[in-house]
Amino acid sequence: MDKIIVEGGHPLNGQVTISGAKNAVLPVLAATLLTQGKCKVQAVPRVRDVTTMVRLVQELGAGVDCFEGDSVVLDTTGINNPIAPYDLVSTMRASCLVLGPLLARLGEAKVSLPGGCAIGARPIDLHIKGLEALGANIRLEEGYVHGIAKKLKGVRHTFDLVTVTGTMNVMMAAALAEGETVLNNAAREPEVSFLADILNHSGAKIKGAGTEKIVIQGVTSLAPIECRILPDRIEAATYMIAGAIANGDVEVLNCVPGHMEPIIDKLRQTGVTVDTRENSVRVKGNGLLSPVDITTEPYPGFATDVQAQFMTLMTLAGGQSRITETVFENRFMHVAELKRMGADISIEGHTATVRGVKQLSGAPVMATDLRASACLVLAGLVAERDTVVSRVYHIDRGYQDMEKKLSQLGAAIRRVK
Ligand code: EPZ
Repeated sequence: MDKIIVEGGHPLNGQVTISGAKNAVLPVLAATLLTQGKCKVQAVPRVRDVTTMVRLVQELGAGVDCFEGDSVVLDTTGINNPIAPYDLVSTMRASCLVLGPLLARLGEAKVSLPGGCAIGARPIDLHIKGLEALGANIRLEEGYVHGIAKKLKGVRHTFDLVTVTGTMNVMMAAALAEGETVLNNAAREPEVSFLADILNHSGAKIKGAGTEKIVIQGVTSLAPIECRILPDRIEAATYMIAGAIANGDVEVLNCVPGHMEPIIDKLRQTGVTVDTRENSVRVKGNGLLSPVDITTEPYPGFATDVQAQFMTLMTLAGGQSRITETVFENRFMHVAELKRMGADISIEGHTATVRGVKQLSGAPVMATDLRASACLVLAGLVAERDTVVSRVYHIDRGYQDMEKKLSQLGAAIRRVK
């Protein structure tokens, strides 16, 4: 298993270019199942979750004409298999995104239930409820979600909780349902809006994506998908925080500042200088960091996927900050590892209280999920001596070339087998 070794104490300076958003590519690849023909997706990040999703649509019958550099060309004419197998789904929860498209395309879907994961149980009950509302008949059998749908019919449906992939799943199925679907309490993430735009380019009739109410007029077919994936706002936020924590001067290129407003606001409150341009953000550390409280919320609130990275920053602030996680029930797994590096953090329920310390010290640490791994690498950038991060396969799921990008900024970081 690979490990990443970071030698602390090197300030970061320079420019880093953001890759396409993993959490936009995955639903778009699932959406190709709704179409019959050659789909071309560009600006795709080379990360493991994308490879997994390409393998999954291939398993379902898609031909992969090309998967090189940052583009994927799929031929979805021959989609004929409704079964998403355990060995693929168990490695990536987002595989459940093929449920809605398979029901719409084949009238059947048999998708292994995703296992839980480090950050919580993460059931897909809300996906199932939404698809049942559209007329699918869904049973749970032998660890699989098995759905049958002769014809999906438009419906008015309210999600009990805001769910990003739940909204995407039901929206994709509704795109080919008969009649009008209204989704209330829908997720408002930029990746939801992006998916709706891409589907509309292929002939779908979706209005209101990006708000809590999405209205979909079903159509009979969709043209093949062609698109360039939008920049990854979570990757961008991660490198902005890297610039802040390493007291450097980092310009993050190919990003959308408008997708990261709460993070930019909170970074400014810590005393860090943040200048935004149309497609870039420049972050300059100014010495002492002020403590700032954050509460994670669905978009447009502070993103839960940036909570761990921001906590690392607060471990070095000049005072006490409170970090409240409201989206997932167990997303403080990185706290124990940060404490092993000398951070002073205590947890009461969903709130972590961070008391700033002068310095972190390097240690062997273990990642538990994608964003926790990133936060440990960030800590390593400024800790004394070396930090050895193991289980870096978590990082490889969602960050393209992290060591390379950080090395180019001046970090002393390397991967060892
Ligand atoms: C998406 O996950 C992202 N993944 C996550 O990013 C992100 O953390 C999350 O949205 C929240 O922003 C992808 O887009 C592939 P949810 P998703 O459904 O859709 C509960 C990363 O690091 N819930 O919005 O799975 C759930 O347990 C990943 O890139 C149900 O109870 O998240 C959670 O507490 C991590 N039942 C809350 O809702 C359901 O049927 C929000 O989950 C669905 C969700």
